[in-house]
Amino acid sequence: MRLHVVDHPLVAHKLTTLRDKRTDSPTFRRLADELVTLLAYEATRDVRTERVDVETPVTATNGVKLSYPRPLVVPILRAGLGMLDGMVRLLPTAEVGFLGMIRNEETLEASTYASRMPEDLSGRQVYVVDPMLATGGTLVAAIQELIRRGADDVTAVVLLAAPEGVAVMERELAGTPVTVVTASVDERLNEHGYIVPGLGDAGDRMYG
Ligand code: PRP
Repeated sequence: MRLHVVDHPLVAHKLTTLRDKRTDSPTFRRLADELVTLLAYEATRDVRTERVDVETPVTATNGVKLSYPRPLVVPILRAGLGMLDGMVRLLPTAEVGFLGMIRNEETLEASTYASRMPEDLSGRQVYVVDPMLATGGTLVAAIQELIRRGADDVTAVVLLAAPEGVAVMERELAGTPVTVVTASVDERLNEHGYIVPGLGDAGDRMYG
């Protein structure tokens, strides 16, 4: 597994406002959307393209376009939904699948309550979006399911990560073609499984 922490002043600025408990829901949703676009720019650095011919008003030349099969974007409901638009804005040809997952607040175990994705993902590049990588249970389960369906290149775009969750991902997904792109790896998880300093519960702050 590869970890890429995006180091950019605009990313840091938006993340700081997301962390601020005084930031209201409309602002939080807008900033999360803007932040994912910046992260998506880095996350799609290896998106597959193919060469095409193009005629400019001046001459014939060549360039690239996004390849087929199309990339798949998978938001993890509920909070991941707030990152979907920012992601597909940069990947206009993407197909979208959905995974509904919830973390039990007591045991911190993740379970899947909805799934709508192509069964066969052979040879597909997949981008999973979810604001938080806390214990890692949710993302590990999601990515293992994508790899079981044949995905051969998975990138998880998360706004924030905890070092504990990163370590779990590294252990459980060792040797798999997975990249995690995030704006920050924070200090730690607290006893309730919240990222510290974090930004609270992203789902509640977007939709609560
Ligand atoms: C949050 C978050 C991640 C998950 C991370 O979702 O959006 O999906 O927890 O935790 P983990 O790394 O410890 O598994 P939550 O279960 O609160 O659901 P929601 O998106 O519906 O609010």
